[in-house]
Amino acid sequence: MANQFFAKKSIDKLIADSQQPEHRLKKSLGPWSLTALGIGAIIGSGIFALTGTAAAGESGDPSFYKAQVLDLFMHLVRHGNLHDLAMYGRPPAGPAIAISFLLVAAACAFAGLCYAELASMIPIAGSAYTYSYATLGELIAWIIGWDLILEYAVSNVAVAVSFGGYFKAQLAAFGLNLPDKWSTPVFTPDGWSHSYFNFPAFLIVFVLTVLLVRGVRESARANNIMVLVKIGAILLFLVVGGMLVRPTNWHPFAPSGFPGIMAGGAIIFFTYIGFDSVSTAAEEARNPQHDLPFGIIASLIVCTILYIGVAIVLLGMMPYQTFGMAGEASDAPVIYALKQLGANHFFQTVIIIGALMGMISSLLVFQYGQTRIWFAMSRDGLLPRFFSSLHPIFKTPHWSTWIAGFLVGIPAGLVDIGQAADLSNIGTLFAFVLVSLGVIFLRKNQPNRPRAFRVPFVPLFPIISVVLCVSLMAGLLVVTWIRFFLWLAIGLIIYFLYSRRHSEFANQTLASSQG
Ligand code: ALA
Repeated sequence: MANQFFAKKSIDKLIADSQQPEHRLKKSLGPWSLTALGIGAIIGSGIFALTGTAAAGESGDPSFYKAQVLDLFMHLVRHGNLHDLAMYGRPPAGPAIAISFLLVAAACAFAGLCYAELASMIPIAGSAYTYSYATLGELIAWIIGWDLILEYAVSNVAVAVSFGGYFKAQLAAFGLNLPDKWSTPVFTPDGWSHSYFNFPAFLIVFVLTVLLVRGVRESARANNIMVLVKIGAILLFLVVGGMLVRPTNWHPFAPSGFPGIMAGGAIIFFTYIGFDSVSTAAEEARNPQHDLPFGIIASLIVCTILYIGVAIVLLGMMPYQTFGMAGEASDAPVIYALKQLGANHFFQTVIIIGALMGMISSLLVFQYGQTRIWFAMSRDGLLPRFFSSLHPIFKTPHWSTWIAGFLVGIPAGLVDIGQAADLSNIGTLFAFVLVSLGVIFLRKNQPNRPRAFRVPFVPLFPIISVVLCVSLMAGLLVVTWIRFFLWLAIGLIIYFLYSRRHSEFANQTLASSQG
């Protein structure tokens, strides 16, 4: 049995399996479609929903669960105990949240390079899951696949809920008030909200599911248009908001110094989640060896420039403390600042519509990426076969797509998922750590296999990636770590009860097979 845990797929076999006609996906994506896919996933609700809160910080009733893991660790190292732990919650980053964006972009760039190397080497659907099956063995592959489902599904629940909120607010601005009972979250931190279902949040996921079942080409084309619209909306915000900046708001620039910048970074990491989803499209890329690294890095550069711009302008418009107030100031800081400072209504509307487009394209790519991971896990026997069956006409994994639609859509119709962003962050960072380790491992074990893209300075760069990702994970709260471990525990139960018995390695004793 131990052999099975460490059994590795051969890279050649992975490629051969994906070429089986009944499992083969259509190859229709070029470099710019992949870049647009990346930008489509990266810019979602995060930049519009989290920038203010991350800058303002969060204080609350003292509770061990709300302590930051990094803070606990430092306290333990310095004092040898957890008595008199001073800080609960998060210190404010202030306008220095712009630096957090830069630091997190650096972490993502290092991880992105590792992704790019493995993606160009193993151009197969499934992203980090597939890479880890080829490098670290079945058990780790299962853990990472399960972890990626968390990243994609939970973050999409959060984005869909945000979409529902912005959509309802915009309809209200047009004079159309949706009944609260059918358009607000059912469960909030204070209990039942007297709402029955949040239809806008559910419906957007449903509509996108139909689009994805019909085929990736149509979806990618729609995505390209939405990407242009949302970039335009962000640029418009930079111009309109830029004229309302008062430079005194940039002082103090970093009210809590480096801890504030790291705590802010751990939250806004959410805004970067998604660039890795480019690699989940490997099997549908026309020239994966060249186009995947291009798509990952290009989408990261574009988004970093836009995010830093938004952070500098937003935190120049109003004092950072403003965005700590409950309600629109913290949930929708961009719109709040424009409204408060009396920006032109037409521009406000254009920016909200652009934000909604951003959320739609982010939802679309994440739903897409999620189903491709399930597809890959099912093809390997770790999930039931129907997850990888293709639609007879559209050639898309329709079962996976529908299941992902309901798995995300129904919770989006129910919850007010305040902690969802943090939970997706920890899952994604963990995936990045494993991918970075995978690059080092594979360079040692398969040095001669062709790599269209090579990370420079191995093992230094992958190690920097691991260190940065683990530091960001430590910036998250104890409660997030506990939820993450619970999710992994559920995954392991499924692995031992189902996947282990159905995997292609179940009846074989295989040593690692090298491709
Ligand atoms: N990066 C995505 C967002 O900002 C998840 O919404």
